[in-house]
Amino acid sequence: MSKMEVKTSLLDNMIGVGDMVLLEPLAEESFIKNLRKRFDHNEIYTYIGSVVISINPYRALPIYTPDKVEEYRNRNFYELSPHIYALADEAYRSLRDQDKDQCILITGESGAGKTEASKLVMSYVAAVCGKGAEVNQVKEQLLQSNPVLEAFGNAKTVRNDNSSRFGKYMDVEFDFKGDPLGGVISNYLLEKSRVVKQPRGERNFHIFYQLLSGASEDMLKKLKLERDFSKYNYLSLDSATVTGVDDAVCFRTVKNAMQIVGFMDNETQSVLELVGAVLKLGNIEFKPESRVNEVDESRVKDKNELKEICELLGIEQSVLERAFSFRTVEAKQEKVSTTLNVAQAYYARDALAKNLYSRLFTWLVNRINESIKAQTKKRKKVMGVLDIYGFEIFEENSFEQFIINYCNEKLQQIFIELTLKEEQEEYIREDIEWTHIEYFNNSVICDLIENNTNGIMAMLDEECLRPGTVTDSTFLEKLNQICADHQHFESRMSKSSKFLNDHSLPHNCFRIQHYAGKVLYHVDGFVDKNNDLLYRDLSQAMWKANHSLIKSLFPDGNPAKINLKRPPTAGSQFKASVATLMKNLQTKNPNYIRCIKPNDQKASHIFTDSLVCHQVRYLGLMENVRVRRAGYAFRQPYDACLERYKMLCKQTWPHWRGQARDGVEVLLKDLQIPEDEYSYGRSKIFIRNPRTLFSLEEQRKRRLHGLATLIQKIYRGWKTRTHFLLMKSSQVTVAAWYRRYAQQTKYKKTKSSAIMVQSFIRGWKARKILRDLKYQKRCKEAVTTIGAYWHGTQARRELKRLKEEARCKHAVAVIWAYWLGLKVRREYRKFFRAHAGKRIYAFTIQRIMQKYFLELKNKMPSMSPCDKTWPARPYLFLDSTHRELRRIFHLWTCKKYRGQFTDQKKAIYEEKLEASEIFKDKKALYPSSVSQPFQGDYLEINKNPRYQKLNSLVEEKIIFADIVNKINRANGKGAQRIFLLTKSKFMLADQKSGQQIKSSVPLAELTSVSMSTQSDGFFALRVKEGTTAAAKGDFLLNSERIIEIITKLHRAGLDLTKEKIQIEITDEFLVQFKQDKVCVKFIQNGPKNGTMASCKRKNNRLLEVTVPSP
Ligand SMILES: Nc1ncnc2c1ncn2[C@@H]1O[C@H](COP(=O)(O)OP(=O)(O)OP(=O)(O)O)[C@@H](O)[C@H]1O
Ligand SMILES: [Mg+2]
Repeated sequence: MSKMEVKTSLLDNMIGVGDMVLLEPLAEESFIKNLRKRFDHNEIYTYIGSVVISINPYRALPIYTPDKVEEYRNRNFYELSPHIYALADEAYRSLRDQDKDQCILITGESGAGKTEASKLVMSYVAAVCGKGAEVNQVKEQLLQSNPVLEAFGNAKTVRNDNSSRFGKYMDVEFDFKGDPLGGVISNYLLEKSRVVKQPRGERNFHIFYQLLSGASEDMLKKLKLERDFSKYNYLSLDSATVTGVDDAVCFRTVKNAMQIVGFMDNETQSVLELVGAVLKLGNIEFKPESRVNEVDESRVKDKNELKEICELLGIEQSVLERAFSFRTVEAKQEKVSTTLNVAQAYYARDALAKNLYSRLFTWLVNRINESIKAQTKKRKKVMGVLDIYGFEIFEENSFEQFIINYCNEKLQQIFIELTLKEEQEEYIREDIEWTHIEYFNNSVICDLIENNTNGIMAMLDEECLRPGTVTDSTFLEKLNQICADHQHFESRMSKSSKFLNDHSLPHNCFRIQHYAGKVLYHVDGFVDKNNDLLYRDLSQAMWKANHSLIKSLFPDGNPAKINLKRPPTAGSQFKASVATLMKNLQTKNPNYIRCIKPNDQKASHIFTDSLVCHQVRYLGLMENVRVRRAGYAFRQPYDACLERYKMLCKQTWPHWRGQARDGVEVLLKDLQIPEDEYSYGRSKIFIRNPRTLFSLEEQRKRRLHGLATLIQKIYRGWKTRTHFLLMKSSQVTVAAWYRRYAQQTKYKKTKSSAIMVQSFIRGWKARKILRDLKYQKRCKEAVTTIGAYWHGTQARRELKRLKEEARCKHAVAVIWAYWLGLKVRREYRKFFRAHAGKRIYAFTIQRIMQKYFLELKNKMPSMSPCDKTWPARPYLFLDSTHRELRRIFHLWTCKKYRGQFTDQKKAIYEEKLEASEIFKDKKALYPSSVSQPFQGDYLEINKNPRYQKLNSLVEEKIIFADIVNKINRANGKGAQRIFLLTKSKFMLADQKSGQQIKSSVPLAELTSVSMSTQSDGFFALRVKEGTTAAAKGDFLLNSERIIEIITKLHRAGLDLTKEKIQIEITDEFLVQFKQDKVCVKFIQNGPKNGTMASCKRKNNRLLEVTVPSP
C-alpha cells in the first residue's frame, strides 16, 4: 500500500483534542486545559476548524524535519495531527490546484512566534514547490531576504529577543504549475524611535551590534568605528548582548544573505557606511553658545566626530555643521533662517539619525524587491504572508505602540469579518438555518482610532497641521473633548462615569480598551512622531553628500524640487497603507495562524494559564469554535462543487445538463450521504462535517485514478495498435527483403556450385588431354632419347675405338717418350737430384709391381687349362695388366698341355674324339668308356703264339682284336668268336676250333650298324644285300668294348670308302638272318636281375634283350 493510500485521521493517537470543534464540553476552562495538555506533550499546534493555534514552545522541537515535510505533503488538512505544515500545504495546494490567491495571516502578541511561523510556512512552501536551478535561486533569494530584514528591522525587546519592529507583508508569486517566480515585500512603519533611544532592558536594532562585533578590524577602520559598544550613545548598555545569540556570527550570515539576495559589494559597503554614520551621529554633542539678540545658539562640541561622519558620507563639514545650528523655514518666496538651541540641535541630530535609518530600511526593502521580483509579466498566483508586529503593551506605550496596536486591531477586524461575521452573514444570505452566536466585534475600536472625522488619528493629524502652538497636551485635550463618550476610550478627563474613579490614569495619558486589552498611552511625542519632521537644512545637507546612496535617500533635499506642501503625517501614511493591506487581504483566501505566548519569561515548558486565557479571550477563539460548531465546515458554490465531484455519479458524468444545484442534489443522493450532513443554500452547498468532505475527496481521488487509468488504457491501446500496425508492415517489408536476400544467396550459391562442378569437369578433361599430350610427347622424347642413346652408344663406341687408337698411338709416343726420357734420365741422373721424386715414384711403382708379381707367383693356379681360378687384383691401376696376365697365363697352360701330346696319343685322342661325336648323349654306355684307353689289339695276335696260325692268315695290320659273343638267332645265346678288324675288312674267327676264320666282310659291304641307347654291348652289323657276305645275313654281336669297336669300324670305313657307315642308335631295330628279318627289342629291367644284359628269343621274329637299369 502506498503512502498516499494510508488512511489516517487527525483523530488517530490524539492527545487531548486536536480540533477544538470536537471539544466536549465546550468551555473556556476545558479549552485552556486542552491547550495545556497538548502543550505539555509537545503538541504546540491545535485546530479550530481550519484555523491553526500555535503556542510558542521557546525551544527547538524536532517537528520541522524534511521527513515531516514529506509526511504532510499532499495530505488532507484533517488527515494528520495538527501542524503548521498542514495549513501551509492546504494553502499551497488550493493556490496551485484551485487557482485561488492565498494569504496567511499570522497574529498574536509580541513574542508569540509570528515571525517564526511565517518562516516555517515559507520554508515548507519552498520545500514542496517545484525544483530546478532557476526556481531554487528564486526560493533561496526569498528565504535569504529574511535575515537581512531581521538584522535591520528586528531588535531585542523585553517581550521578545528578536522582536519585529516593522510590519512585513510578503507576496510570493507562483506560475500556473506552482513554481515560485518571485515576490514583493511591503514594509509597514519601522519603529525608528528605537534608533536613538531604547527602553530599559531593550536593544537598538540588531545590525548595530552585529556590525561592531562581526566586522573585521580593517572594515571597522574604514568605517571609522570602534568595537566597543560603550563608545556609542545610541547603544544602550544594560542589555547589549542577547543570550544564546552570537552577533558576530549573525553578521556573517547577514552579509552572506545580502550577497545571495543580490547586493553588490559596493552596495553592502554603502549600507554599512550609513549604519556607521548613524551610530556616530549619536556621539555628536552640542554646547550652548553666547546669546546674540537673545537667541540661543549651539555649537558642536567635538568636531572630530562630525568630521569623521562627513568623511564617511562625503559631506562638507561646514554644511552639516550649519545644518545642526540653523533652521531655514521657507514660506512662499520668503526664506527665514533661525538658529537652533542645544535641545533643538539634539532634536535635529536624532531626527536625522532616525530618518537616515528608516530611509535606509525602506531602501533595503526596495532593493530586495528589485532582486526578487518576478521576471515575467504573465498572470501570477499569489500567496501573501503577513507578519506584523504583534499587539504589545509596555510599561510606557507611545505613538509606536498606538500604531502597532491599531494595526493588530485591524487584523482582528478582518479576522472577525472573514470568519465570524462573514460566516453568519453567509448563512443568512444563503438561507441556511442559523442560530446567532454572540461575538465581540472590534469595529467600534477601529472606528475610534481611524474615523476620518473624529477618530484619534484624524485628530492627531489635525493638531499637527493646525497653526499656533501645538503640543501633546493640546492633542490630549482634544481627545478628551471628542472621544470622551466613547466606551473604549478613557482618560482622566473622560466623562465616562465608569472610569471616573480610576486614579491609575496619569494626567498625560489616555487609555484605549483594545480587543486584546487595555493599553495606556503616554501622549508625549505623539505630535512630533506623527509629524516626523526633518529640518530641510539637514535633508539638503544629506542630498549634497558625495555618497550615492545617501543622495538617493534624500530626494527631498534637492533644492530644485522644493515642495512646500507638508508631507503626509506618519499616522495617515500608516492608516492608508493598512487600508490598502486590508483591501488586498480581502481579495484573497485567508488562512489563519493564531500565535499564543505561553509565558512572559521566554521560557520553555512553562504554561501560564492566566496569560493564555487572556490571549484566548481577546483572540476570540471561543467564539471561533462556537461558530464552527454551529455551522457547516465547508461550503462551495453549486457549479464549483458539481464540477469537482461530478465524476462520482453516473448521471452527472461527464456532463450535467440541468441546473448545477439539481446536479449536486442528484450527486449527493447517489452517493448516499446522510441528509443531515449537508444543507442546500441559495448558491452554495454547505457540508456540515469535514469528514464528509474528506470522504468525497477520497472518492474523487479514487475515481480520478480510475479515469486516469481509463485514459491511459485507451491511449495505450491506441499506441500499442499503432505500434503493432507499424511492426506488422515493417515485418512484411523485412520478410520481403529477407526472402529476396535468401533467394539471392541461394542462387549465388547454386551458380557458384555449378561453376565449381564445371570447372572440376573442365579441369579433369583438360588434365586427361594434358596427360595424353604428355604421353605422346614422352613417346616422341623416348624415341628421340633412344635414338640419341643409340647414336650416343655408336658414337661412344666409335669414340672409344678412336680413343683407343689415339691412346695406342699416344702410348707408343708416350712409351717412346718415356724411353727417351728414361734414357736421358739415366744419362743425366747423376747430374739431377731433382728427379729423386720421380725415381722414388718409379721405385715405389717398381716395388709394388715386384710385390704384385711375387704374390701372383705364390698364388698361381694349377696348370690345368680347365682351372678358371685367378687371384684377386690388388691395385686398380693394375686392372688391365692383371686381366692381360690371366689371359696370357691361360693361353700358356693350354700351350703347355698341348705340348705333352705324341702322335700315337694324338691318334688315340682323335679316336676318342670321334667316339664322343658318335655316342655322346646317345648311348648310355658311352660315359664309362671315356676313361678306358683304346688298346686295339687286346689279344696281341702277332705276339701271342696261341694265335700264330690266325696271324698268318691275316695279311693286313690288325687294328682291333678281341673276343666277342655272336648271338645265335635260334635261342639268343652267345658264342665266343674272335673279332678282328683291319683297314679293309672285319673278320670273325672261331676261338676254340683252331683259329679258323669263319666270316670275313669287306668294310665296303657294311651298310649300317645298329645298337641300343642303353648300357648293353649288343650291336648289329648290316651287310649290303647281294654281296657274298650277305648270304649269311647280318651279324648280331655283344661286346663290352662296343664303343671302341664301332668307333674304329667307323674310322676304317671312312678311311676306306670316304663314306660314313650309317650308325643307328635305337631300342628296336631289325636284323636280317639269312632270309628272315628278326626284330631286336631292348627293354630295361630292375637291377635285381643281374648286372649283365641277357638276350632271349621270344619268337621267330623277336629277340628281346633285357638290360639292367643303371
Ligand atoms: N515554533 C517555534 N519553535 C521554537 N521556538 C519558537 C517557535 N516560535 C517562536 N519561537 C521562539 O520564540 C521567539 C519569538 O518568536 P517570534 O520572533 O516569532 O515572535 P513574534 O510573534 O514575531 O514577536 P514580535 O511580534 O515581537 O515580532 C523566537 O525568537 C524563538 O526563539
Ligand atoms: Mg516578529
